[in-house]
Amino acid sequence: MRFFKHNHLMFIALSACAIAAACTSEKIEYRSGANFAAPATTAASFVGYFDAANKQTVCGSCHVDYQTRWSQTKHASAWADLQASGGASGVCYACHSTNNLGNAVTDTAVGYRSTQDVRYHDVQCESCHGPGLTHASSPSQGNVPLASIKADTNATNGCGECHTGTHEPFVNQWKMSNASGLTHSEIQSHALGNASTDCVGCHTAQGALLRFAPTANFVEQVSSPTAITAANALPIVCAVCHDPHGSPNTHQLRYSISAPSVDQNLCVQCHQRYPSPVALTTRNSAHSPEGPTLFGLAGWFPPNWNAADTIIGTHGTPSANPTLCAGCHVQRFTVNKAGTSTFVFQDAGHSFIAAPCVDANGQPTTSQSCAQTSKTYRSCVQSGCHASETAAISAYNTDSLRVQQLVTMANSLIKKETAIKSAECNEAATTTLPAFTTCMGMIFNVSLATKPGAFVHNPFLIEQLLITTITQMQTQYGITPSVLYPLTPQIVLPSKNKGLFGRLFK
Ligand code: HEC
Ligand code: HEC
Ligand code: HEC
Ligand code: HEC
Ligand code: HEC
Ligand code: HEC
Ligand code: HEC
Ligand code: HEC
Repeated sequence: MRFFKHNHLMFIALSACAIAAACTSEKIEYRSGANFAAPATTAASFVGYFDAANKQTVCGSCHVDYQTRWSQTKHASAWADLQASGGASGVCYACHSTNNLGNAVTDTAVGYRSTQDVRYHDVQCESCHGPGLTHASSPSQGNVPLASIKADTNATNGCGECHTGTHEPFVNQWKMSNASGLTHSEIQSHALGNASTDCVGCHTAQGALLRFAPTANFVEQVSSPTAITAANALPIVCAVCHDPHGSPNTHQLRYSISAPSVDQNLCVQCHQRYPSPVALTTRNSAHSPEGPTLFGLAGWFPPNWNAADTIIGTHGTPSANPTLCAGCHVQRFTVNKAGTSTFVFQDAGHSFIAAPCVDANGQPTTSQSCAQTSKTYRSCVQSGCHASETAAISAYNTDSLRVQQLVTMANSLIKKETAIKSAECNEAATTTLPAFTTCMGMIFNVSLATKPGAFVHNPFLIEQLLITTITQMQTQYGITPSVLYPLTPQIVLPSKNKGLFGRLFK
């Protein structure tokens, strides 16, 4: 922490810092001269810019790190971009300026909405933190304007107050439920109040932020994973994936979406719990294995597996699919009235569903239990991978059928071996058996293969795991499946099944 010019504020801050550990982790400094002019009373305690031309916020005059990072975000150019669009009019201003939107204030006649001054242009600190006149005049622990990370469609607070509506339906799509009941706006009740506190690190916002940004401070913050309860837990909200103050990654994301790495990819911070069987667990099934599947690392590898094989499909290859998970699950589309160019809806891709059910215009519906003909596979085309939706659907159906065949074979072998020696296939016995058996490995690989999306994420890996484990079951136990399908790869490989595959379907 550095202090520049000595003034009365500095001493207040010093004494505040003596009791608060929080401010030692960031750089807070004071500038010389008058910090800011008193805001008009009509602006209701929003201080805004003290130097609008240079985008210098009053808050940022002390919180210099935040000022530097925020000034590079699109929030800092919201006003200029609005003007440059040529469409600026009365209705536009509220979301492109600093006022009650985004914070706890409910009175609409505040900030730019009551005082049309350059001081309140752009989405500034106080858009999210709320008015800070008291704190900026005399900062102390008791008057810190903390931001909320809550997100909801009918909220009077948070990102969703601006990121909403037919043009920007981020919060609306995020909130949309689907048939699997697995949306980012929901929390699995099992993951709360469970003896294993690590569940909350992926299933709640507070738990995830304790991992991603341990020093973050906000209204709903908790001190440790054990303090997260059903009463205070929030789901995977905007601020889990996006850093409100900016980041080196595109779209203010906390981690890269292009990194083909389990450690560095944003989505794979969570989508990677049990990609492979974990020794001595009673749960013998895959749990959020999507990341490792994409990167060729998931599955139980039988003894006859060629150790040199790392099977990464086209979908997990950045040169073919640059934004990986997001290339299929987060795509933006403009939806027009069917057969016309009349705008209806801007799909922001924030339902995170790769092939959503859509209505006649192509707008995603809330139901996700429609027939395949009512789903759109446009992500497969927009990502540049497939020539047409028909081509993508054909690949999907071919691979789906092939995996179903192998799963049927595998299940018949599991049934036979269970009849011969049930302990060999008994998942509950995992803790007592000396080693993980081949039959349990088969059960695990079937659970992996039947996870929704698994055969899309990496068809070559899934097929090869099933083939190799089925072969091992046959030779090791001397049994044969009740139904027979080819045990050679049927899903077409562009080259030898090693390393990166390059682009496959066209
Ligand atoms: C005059 C300097 C100054 C100004 C201006 C200022 N702050 Fe602060 N701020 C501080 C100090 C000092 C602290 C530490 C207070 C404490 O913990 O006692 C602090 C703490 C905070 C914290 C909590 C930090 C943490 O890690 O827990 C937030 C959030 C915050 N300020 C936001 C703002 C916002 C938003 C504005 C603009 C409305 C603003 N500040 C303006 C000096 C300032
Ligand atoms: C007061 C309204 C408002 C609030 C509150 C708000 N935003 Fe924004 N946001 C905007 C506007 C307007 C833009 C577009 C600015 C532009 O492009 O000129 C934007 C742009 C963005 C972008 C695009 C960045 C990029 O590089 O493409 C992200 C991401 C974003 N906001 C995330 C958030 C998050 C997360 C929150 C809550 C923590 C939030 N916003 C709160 C209005 C708001
Ligand atoms: C409900 C809040 C809201 C209103 C009202 C609103 N905007 Fe925006 N605007 C946003 C948000 C949020 C974004 C950022 C979206 C994104 O990054 O995808 C944005 C982004 C933009 C952008 C930047 C787009 C780009 O390509 O970077 C322009 C230009 C824009 N708005 C113009 C307008 C105009 C013109 C109006 C009035 C007709 C308007 N906005 C009204 C919330 C709003
Ligand atoms: C902080 C952890 C976390 C991150 C980061 C994360 N997810 Fe998730 N995701 C989850 C959890 C937890 C669920 C299950 C939600 C539930 O409990 O209902 C989920 C569910 C999903 C689903 C199920 C269907 C749906 O409608 O939401 C998809 C698809 C998905 N995530 C894709 C992604 C993608 C793509 C990314 C990266 C852009 C991502 N996730 C980043 C934790 C995360
Ligand atoms: C788009 C909304 C948004 C904007 C704009 C914004 N903040 Fe924040 N701020 C948050 C949220 C949400 C948190 C808590 C989560 C986090 O820090 O990642 C936070 C946390 C903080 C903290 C507490 C320490 C920490 O890292 O958590 C400080 C200090 C702070 N902001 C200062 C500022 C200043 C100064 C500005 C303007 C230069 C600013 N913020 C702009 C939403 C915002
Ligand atoms: C699970 C992670 C995740 C969550 C939760 C999430 N986003 Fe995003 N968001 C992304 C990703 C990934 C992208 C970028 C996609 C790309 O570039 O291909 C993105 C892009 C954006 C953009 C820029 C879009 C554009 O095309 O200009 C805005 C604005 C945005 N998100 C706002 C929000 C808001 C508001 C929320 C909360 C309602 C939210 N996001 C929740 C992952 C997330
Ligand atoms: C490393 C991150 C991570 C951890 C830790 C984690 N989960 Fe999950 N979990 C996810 C993701 C991501 C999903 C959604 C994607 C999927 O189901 O493949 C999910 C899905 C679920 C589901 C619904 C689907 C299913 O498989 O039944 C339940 C229930 C669940 N988790 C419970 C838990 C419990 C209980 C714990 C703690 C013992 C836990 N999770 C720990 C990331 C995690
Ligand atoms: C090539 C496109 C593609 C890529 C890349 C991709 N997915 Fe998927 N994913 C899909 C499709 C398509 C489905 C749905 C399968 C279905 O409907 O049968 C799906 C399903 C899922 C599901 C289950 C959704 C549900 O409703 O239960 C989750 C979770 C998921 N993907 C997460 C991820 C994550 C995380 C990544 C990155 C590690 C990723 N996906 C990469 C296309 C993709």
